[in-house]
Order: sequence, then C-alpha cells, then structure tokens
Amino acid sequence: MSSMRILAIETSCDETAAAVIRKESSHGYVVIESSIVASQASLHAKYGGVYPEVASREHVRHILPVIAEALGLKMPPGGRLPKADFSSIDRIAVTIGPGLIGSLLVGVQSAATISLTTGIPLFAINHLAGHVYASFIQQGEEKVPKFPLLAMIVSGGHTLLVLMKGHYDFQVIGETLDDAAGEAFDKVARLLELGYPGGPEISRMAVKGNRHAFQFPIALAHDSTYNFSFSGLKTAVLRQIQKESKPLHDTTKADVAASFERVVVESLLVKLNRALDDYPVRSVILGGGVAANSYLRQRMSTLLAHRIPEFHLFVPPIELCTDNGAVIGAAAAFCPDKPTKPGQIQAYSRLGLVSGS
Ligand code: KG4
Ligand code: ZN
Repeated sequence: MSSMRILAIETSCDETAAAVIRKESSHGYVVIESSIVASQASLHAKYGGVYPEVASREHVRHILPVIAEALGLKMPPGGRLPKADFSSIDRIAVTIGPGLIGSLLVGVQSAATISLTTGIPLFAINHLAGHVYASFIQQGEEKVPKFPLLAMIVSGGHTLLVLMKGHYDFQVIGETLDDAAGEAFDKVARLLELGYPGGPEISRMAVKGNRHAFQFPIALAHDSTYNFSFSGLKTAVLRQIQKESKPLHDTTKADVAASFERVVVESLLVKLNRALDDYPVRSVILGGGVAANSYLRQRMSTLLAHRIPEFHLFVPPIELCTDNGAVIGAAAAFCPDKPTKPGQIQAYSRLGLVSGS
C-alpha cells in the first residue's frame, strides 16, 4: 500500500474528536486531511473540572456529526446522517484509554460499529501514544523526529518521560508520583478562582506577574530519578494564598500564577536535563495539553538550543497538543499491524503506555 488513509476517533475526556489523516509509505510523517474537535470545556467550566456524566452525554450528542464532518459530510440540523463513503479508508483508529470510561465507550463503540459494518480493520490506540505521535504530523517542513528520542508527555492526567529507540518502542523512564502537571495547573487555577481549564488561565495571568515573587519548592530536584511530583507545590501555593488578605489582589494572583508556572516548568526541565545527560538522544518531543504552554515551550527551546545546538526539538502546534483525533490517527499510522476484532475491543480508564504497566 503506497498511501494509507485513517479515520481516527478520540473521546477520552471532554473533546469529541475525529480526523482523517494520510501517510505515504515513503514518508516518516503523516498529513492531516481533516480534524474536527467539538469541545465541551465551556459546559464543564461551571463545575471547575470535567463532569463525567455530562461528558458522556455530550459525546453521544456529538460523535456522529463530528465523524461525518471529518469525512467531509454535512449533517443537517436534526437531520439524518448522509451515507458515508468509507471506500478510501484503510484503517479505523480509536482511543481505548486512559480516560473517562463513559467517554471512551462512546468512541470505542462508534469505531467498532463502523469497522464491523464496513470490514475496515480496527486499531486500538493508547491516548498517550497519540500525544507522542503528534510530533510525527507534518508541520510545513518535512522534518521528522529521529531515534533515539526522549518524549516528555505533560497532560491533564499524565506526566511522563519516555525513551524511544524506534516506533512504538516506549520505555517510560520517569513519571509523576502524584498529580500530573496539567492537574496542578487546574487545581491552582481553582485556588486562584480562575476558570477551567486552568492551564490557559494561569498562563494568561502569569505574563503579568513576577516569576520570582514566591519561592515555591521544586520537588525531587536532587534525587537520582527522572520522576516528578506536583502535589507539594499545590500545597505550597495553597499555604501562600491562605496568608494573603482576601479577596486576592490581581497582582498577587499574577505573582502566584507566574511563580507557580516557573516552578512547574523548572521541575520538568530539571528531569529532562538529567535524562539528556544519561541518554544520548537525537530528538526531544514535547506533547500533551500542557505542551500548549508558551512559557514551557520557550524555556524548553532555550534549554535545548544551549545544550545541543544541532539537536531537534519537536513541539506540535497548540491545537495538536490538546486532545484531537489527528494525533490518534498518527499513532495508528505507525503502530504494529495488529488490528483488534470489533467485537472484542475494550475501553480502559487506566492504561499504561507500555502494555502490562
Ligand atoms: O492533553 P489534554 O488536552 O487532555 C488530557 O489528556 O489530559 O490536557 C489537558 C490539560 C489540562 O490540565 C489543561 O489545564 C492543560 O492541559 N493545558 C495547559 C495549557 N493548555 C492546556 N496547561 C498549561 N498551559 C496551557 N496553555
Ligand atoms: Zn490528552
């Protein structure tokens, strides 16, 4: 097959997403043909986080129109889904976990049904692999990450440092011992009474603040692992807020946000730096929702430019850092050729990047 087209579906959290991607066999990257994301973030904002039952119901409402639109069809409001042409689709890919089980099931059942009725092979994809493979989506120039590489995945649920010596050869060398980086952003945003999702809100506040106003702790900075910890940082922020007079002044909020953001980023960079000392890699990949953070992107590129000038850092554009179908399609384009039977596919709320972990 010289060219492969994949329909990919992602519903692990609060975005209902579908995409069609294409991979030429001679290319080491994929190209996005369409990518549709229906975000529920504004619905969950009033709860300060994702409300699982609301998320599942919204996925049910949006999944068919989103798939139809990714396939280039338009669904009339209240109308029936027009007949789709799947003849040029070679694979159906779907996120099977980790994520919210009720949300995952909507995508998994939709993908399994399409596979069953069309006979197109079905590929079960790990959400975290999607965040890794975001960097294998073509970004203008035909540059692709080279192995061995280190991937830093920073999302709402995970913070991982992964060594890859080849495609789908994942070795998790570090991870968070408690909260994920994105979770810390969301919790601190709540403490500061900012909106949800917290990451972008903190980021907006932080640019107006002093990054050294508060000396919050960098956890595990001097241990010998590549692990992370963010729960102590969240508690330190809480203690600081308790000491301040209420209501919090905007300059205090900005200083807390800026100091917190600096410490999260430095916590990540300390461990990346250590891993780079120990593993001679050719590329570094950044992925996951927190990779949308402009301060992290900027500090990471400065660090890497100083460390290894000829070295390649891959940071996806912001819309490919947060959840979407295209990255799931990209992961499916490079995954081992082992389809899953539609009647046997399952969703998993907890799922390690490496099978059995
Ligand atoms: O990858 P993602 O969209 O969903 C998961 O797989 O979890 O990541 C969502 C997380 C949220 O915690 C959100 O606050 C964070 O990514 N995030 C950010 C930014 N944009 C999203 N964190 C920091 N800065 C941002 N600009
Ligand atoms: Zn994600």
